[in-house]
Amino acid sequence: MAASLTREDAGRPAVRAPQIETARLRLRPFAPTDLDALCRITADPEVMRYIGDGRALTPEETEASLRNIMDAFRRRGYGRWAVEEKAGGALLGYCGLGLPAESPGVELVYMLARSAWGRGLATEASVAVLRYAFEELGLERVYALTMPGNVRSRRVLERVGMEYLRDDCYFGYACVCYALERARWRPGPGLYRLRTEEAGAALR
Ligand SMILES: CC(C)(COP(=O)(O)OP(=O)(O)OC[C@H]1O[C@@H](n2cnc3c(N)ncnc32)[C@H](O)[C@@H]1OP(=O)(O)O)[C@@H](O)C(=O)NCCC(=O)NCCS
Repeated sequence: MAASLTREDAGRPAVRAPQIETARLRLRPFAPTDLDALCRITADPEVMRYIGDGRALTPEETEASLRNIMDAFRRRGYGRWAVEEKAGGALLGYCGLGLPAESPGVELVYMLARSAWGRGLATEASVAVLRYAFEELGLERVYALTMPGNVRSRRVLERVGMEYLRDDCYFGYACVCYALERARWRPGPGLYRLRTEEAGAALR
C-alpha cells in the first residue's frame, strides 16, 4: 500500500516541513511509510467512533486520507503532524491544524491509537500545535469541533484552555464548537523545540 504513495510523491516540490519536539513526543510530517501503522489505528472502531460517520476505515480509505493529509501539509506548510513517541518511535496518530470547507476557521484536530490514551499525550501534542498556530502562523483564534458525546476530546480541549462557544452542526453532524483566542493564550512550561527542514528529504 505504501509503495504507491511513495511513487506518486516522487518529484513533488519540496516545502518547509516543521517538526516539533515536546517532552515525550515528536511531531513530524507524515510519510508514505506511515500508511500501515495509520491503517491499524483507523481500523479500530473505538478510535473512529466520533469521527465522521463513526465507522472504522478500510485500508483504501486510510490511504486516501493519508494522501490528503500529506497534500494539505505540502500546500499550506502545516496541517496534521504525525505524532510519535520519542522513546520507541512508533506512530501514535496525528495532531495538528485542519481547515475543512465548512469549518469556522483553522481547527485543532487529533487522533491517537487507543494504546496511547490516558497518558496526557493528546494534551501535550495539542499544547505544542497551539503554540505553533499562534507563534509561527500568527493566527488570532484556533477553533475545535467535536461531537457532544466525545467526552475525552472535550476534556483535552478544556485542559489546553479552549472555551466552549456553542452547539453547532457541521457536515450534517451535531457538534460542540470551542475556540482559543491568541490574546488569552500563554505558552506553557513544557519542552517545545521547533525545527524546520526541506520536506523532500523527510518524505522520501
Ligand atoms: C481524543 C483523544 C485524543 C483523547 O485522548 P486522552 O488520552 O483521553 O487525552 P490525553 O492524551 O490528553 O490524556 C488525558 C488522560 O490522561 C491522564 N494523564 C496521565 N498523565 C497525564 C499527563 N502527564 N498530563 C495530562 N493528563 C495525563 C489524564 O488524567 C486523562 O485521563 P482521564 O481522561 O481518565 O482523566 C483520544 O480519545 C482519541 O484519539 N480519540 C479518538 C479520536 C477522536 O475522537 N478525536 C477527536 C475528534 S474531534
